Amino acid sequence: MSEPHLDLSEVIAVGQSAGEEIAAAGTLEELTALRERLIGRDSAIARARRGLGDLPADQRPAAGKTISAVADAVTVQLEERRTELAAQAELATLRRDATDVSLPGRRPERGSFHAINQVMDEMIDIFVSIGYAVADGPEAETEFYNFTALNMPPTHPARLETDTLYLEYGDRAEEILLRTHTSPMQARYMEEHDPPVHVVVPGRVFRRDPLDATHSPVFHQMEGLAVAEGVTFADLKGTLFYFAKEFFGPATKVKFLPDYFPFTEPSAQMLVWTNDRWLELLGCGMVNPAVFEHVGYDPDIVTGFAFGMGADRMAMVRHGVDNLRLLLEPDVRVLRQFR
Ligand code: PHE
Repeated sequence: MSEPHLDLSEVIAVGQSAGEEIAAAGTLEELTALRERLIGRDSAIARARRGLGDLPADQRPAAGKTISAVADAVTVQLEERRTELAAQAELATLRRDATDVSLPGRRPERGSFHAINQVMDEMIDIFVSIGYAVADGPEAETEFYNFTALNMPPTHPARLETDTLYLEYGDRAEEILLRTHTSPMQARYMEEHDPPVHVVVPGRVFRRDPLDATHSPVFHQMEGLAVAEGVTFADLKGTLFYFAKEFFGPATKVKFLPDYFPFTEPSAQMLVWTNDRWLELLGCGMVNPAVFEHVGYDPDIVTGFAFGMGADRMAMVRHGVDNLRLLLEPDVRVLRQFR
């Protein structure tokens, strides 16, 4: 009977080529598949091990030694390559997720209040400090509040298309406009509040003015209104003079000139002496009794004064900017100087 024989040539061949194959595995996945082929359950090495039992006892040790030597060598090489590939993979992950803690952080760019808003806040604060409330109102306004309630009849020139930006607003096309001043809030505020009222109303207003060094189709006003029993023109002058001294400094000089507004009677403008000239700062006057009648106040009981001042020009004066466009255009080189 022929003796069982185990052919180890395949195992030896595996031992010879394994090194090159293992070195060629480029990823951990490839290496795992290769490991299965070289020393897994269906590998030549595993098959040879299973065949050992059929060998005569005296041949088993030598054959077993050969198989183990190849299997050990292959296993060691697989392990070494696995360590290498794992290190490479880790390095790649670290690179991808790298945070350089020695770099200064990226600061988010922070904005700041615009110079005009800062000046408006300053103006508001002065009035708040003497007891005025602050209100705001709609920029899209009705003809009624913008004109009619302020004693400007349909024939008034300020209503003309050449002066005013009308909105196409549904079937009320002719009635809705961008408010040309903050004065409509006089009427709105009095409708909502019983006297006495002391309120300022900052906001944007709109006129058909082309943009130039001193005009813009969008600008900013602050309206003021004080109504109570016994309010006089002396109160108007005292309050506005106080404001001018707070804003421009204690030595400030002001003067009042007669003016005309349909919603105040008498009316005036206040000028302030600044930069060696008189600057027209605001329009003002005693609230016209016709306005009180529109809002249901009794002009036999209350009197009041109102004023409207432009904030853009105040910002120009405050910062020595001689061209309004510099403030209105979005040039951060200019704007960041007013932080
Ligand atoms: N609304 C006027 C204007 O825009 C200013 C004003 C307000 C005048 C209040 C008198 C009273 O020119």
